[in-house]
Amino acid sequence: MQVQSTLLFRRMSVPKSVLLAIPVLWMLKRIFLPYLWQDLKFFYRAASYMKKIAQALKQCPSFGMLDIFLKQVATRPNQAFILYQDQSYTYKDIDLKSNQTAWALREHAKLKKGDCVAVFLGNEPAYIWIWLGLIKIGCPMACLNYNIRSKSFLHCFKCSEAKVIIAAPELRNAVEEVLPALREQGVLVYYLSRDSPTAGVYSLLDKIEAASQEPIPSSFRPGLNVKTPIVYIYTSGTTGLPKAAVINQGRLLISSSISTMSGITSKDILYIPLPLYHSAGLLIGVRGCIQQGATCVIRNKFSASQFWDDCRKYNVTAFQYIGEILRYLCNTPKKDNDKDHCVRIAVGNGVRSDVWKEFINRFGPIKMCEFYAATEGNSFFFNYTGKIGALGKSNLFLKAMRPYNLIKYDVEKDEPVRNATGQCIRVAKGETGLLISEITVTTPFTGYAGDASLTEKKRLHNVFKKGDLYFNTGDLIMEDKEGFLFFQDRVGDTFRWKGENVSTTEVADIVGMTDFIEEVNVYGIPVPYHEGRIGMAAVKLKEDQSFDGEKLYEKVVDYLPSYARPRFVRIQESIEVTGTYKQRKVELVKEGFNPLVIKDPLYFLDETNKIYRPMTQQIYNAILEKTFKL
Ligand SMILES: *[C@@H]1O[C@H](CO)[C@@H](O)[C@H](O)[C@H]1NC(C)=O
Ligand SMILES: *[C@@H]1O[C@H](CO)[C@@H](O)[C@H](O)[C@H]1NC(C)=O
Ligand SMILES: *[C@@H]1O[C@H](CO)[C@@H](O)[C@H](O)[C@H]1NC(C)=O
Ligand SMILES: *[C@@H]1O[C@H](CO)[C@@H](O)[C@H](O)[C@H]1NC(C)=O
Ligand SMILES: *[C@@H]1O[C@H](CO)[C@@H](O)[C@H](O)[C@H]1NC(C)=O
Repeated sequence: MQVQSTLLFRRMSVPKSVLLAIPVLWMLKRIFLPYLWQDLKFFYRAASYMKKIAQALKQCPSFGMLDIFLKQVATRPNQAFILYQDQSYTYKDIDLKSNQTAWALREHAKLKKGDCVAVFLGNEPAYIWIWLGLIKIGCPMACLNYNIRSKSFLHCFKCSEAKVIIAAPELRNAVEEVLPALREQGVLVYYLSRDSPTAGVYSLLDKIEAASQEPIPSSFRPGLNVKTPIVYIYTSGTTGLPKAAVINQGRLLISSSISTMSGITSKDILYIPLPLYHSAGLLIGVRGCIQQGATCVIRNKFSASQFWDDCRKYNVTAFQYIGEILRYLCNTPKKDNDKDHCVRIAVGNGVRSDVWKEFINRFGPIKMCEFYAATEGNSFFFNYTGKIGALGKSNLFLKAMRPYNLIKYDVEKDEPVRNATGQCIRVAKGETGLLISEITVTTPFTGYAGDASLTEKKRLHNVFKKGDLYFNTGDLIMEDKEGFLFFQDRVGDTFRWKGENVSTTEVADIVGMTDFIEEVNVYGIPVPYHEGRIGMAAVKLKEDQSFDGEKLYEKVVDYLPSYARPRFVRIQESIEVTGTYKQRKVELVKEGFNPLVIKDPLYFLDETNKIYRPMTQQIYNAILEKTFKL
């Protein structure tokens, strides 16, 4: 035995380094190999796609969105492109309508290449043919959110520098409210209808229907290239009022890659329950369908109770989601025919792991293609491994091409933490950090329309070394040991509610316009069983003034879309600020909306009685018991 074991030992002691290498290799395998193959495969797909894009971009404009659309019209003229209610439009129909729109707008609105047109429309087929019509004459389209009113409306419209606006006749009240201001600026206002009930607003639909169907000469859109702006999408950034992100031809081409990577083909029928004024619906949904030659079903408003009936009615095979949508679907009463549909793919972002699991259990094995990409950002993740709950995975190979980092963030001060020499600090695995991505030639940040300082605010300088430049996504993300990325929160002055980004400064501006309020601090608080955060306004009253719940209700309803109205109001003696005069929010957020915890007078927005009325323990309990719908 003795001899044997020494022999053994001796024999093995020779290649000692190999012995040492085994655990190292074993560890490497544990760390990398489970995903190495998938990482490489995804990298290969992404890289070859990027190469294709780079090639296409070189040939731009012949590979711009319009050319791809016209190619689809030639390939599949009679295939349905848009389904809406009981209407069906083929690729050819939409092409023809867009020709007419282009001629009508050129003739009546005297549009020239580069003139921006703002659309203030709900989801309807016209959204898409107007867009294509505008591209045919080289004009960018600004997609106004149809929930905005008065001051926000004018702000958003102004940052697009548009001189023409096309509005849905259903939004007449909102249009009339801002009409004097628009007229003063010499803006041409149209309703998308055959006649106009408002003096000073023209009708457009009759003009489109009477216009020529002839092809639009390409001389109407000279010099179309990668950098030509095609559409402006509004985003509530981390600071202030909404901003118009400039989407150019190049970005449009890239955004269509999400539908390709999700596996959508020309045979698919994509259901788009999201608003077309956001990048998800328009750039990933509609633009993606054009890329693949697929059919899209659009709906004016998401409805959880109609969702599966729609999927059956239109034979939907894929749909787009945001986390809230999946949660609403899971919250509907169970039905026997829950699995009776032919949906195989879902594309979107923001789903929590519990909802994701429940959704698949209940509605069947639908492939969930979760991705992360900000409208104006330059970083991009995709869940190619199928890890539930993750928004994607960091990929060593991809990271080399699109560098991004997670850095320490001071939530209280609302800025990245910098060390003694002024550099930002990377967070460790498992820690939450601010996602930033380097701005380079291959990963550009196209910025916002209008005021250049808005664009500058999203840039971070001298992050890790002098002279480097990063894009600040405003998203707090956690990367686990295996490299999976999980969304944690938004920073700064926005929070998400009902799938929309709410800008706290915008809400505070409106609440602060009420005559009895001196100071306002708006923040979002998490609510159990809900995605995002619900709005709360902490206010300080003017001296000798009392709170008028009816007046505040009126102001808020007049000026803010429903998702942005603060659901709760608490009255404070004073609004606390930090050393740098920023309002303190972290403590307030922690206190939530429990009347037992909050000692200040607390009010609650009561939609039925149109008033802010005192918050009670009953309402609080009802919210927690899910018997009260927020
Ligand atoms: C509409 O315009 C496109 C090119 O812009 C052209 O290919 C198509 O033939 C036109 N449609 C009709 C009906 O003339
Ligand atoms: C859906 O599919 C069925 C059976 O294949 C077909 O009869 C029906 O016309 C389709 N509906 C639509 C809207 O395409
Ligand atoms: C809200 O902000 C996030 C983070 O920047 C972005 O990914 C998302 O698209 C925005 N959502 C909307 C509806 O604008
Ligand atoms: C994303 O994850 C889900 C997990 O259910 C998986 O089914 C899906 O295939 C993944 N997406 C891709 C593109 O692999
Ligand atoms: C600050 O961070 C940078 C980069 O992260 C590092 O190179 C530098 O040594 C740090 N300085 C100090 C004083 O810690």
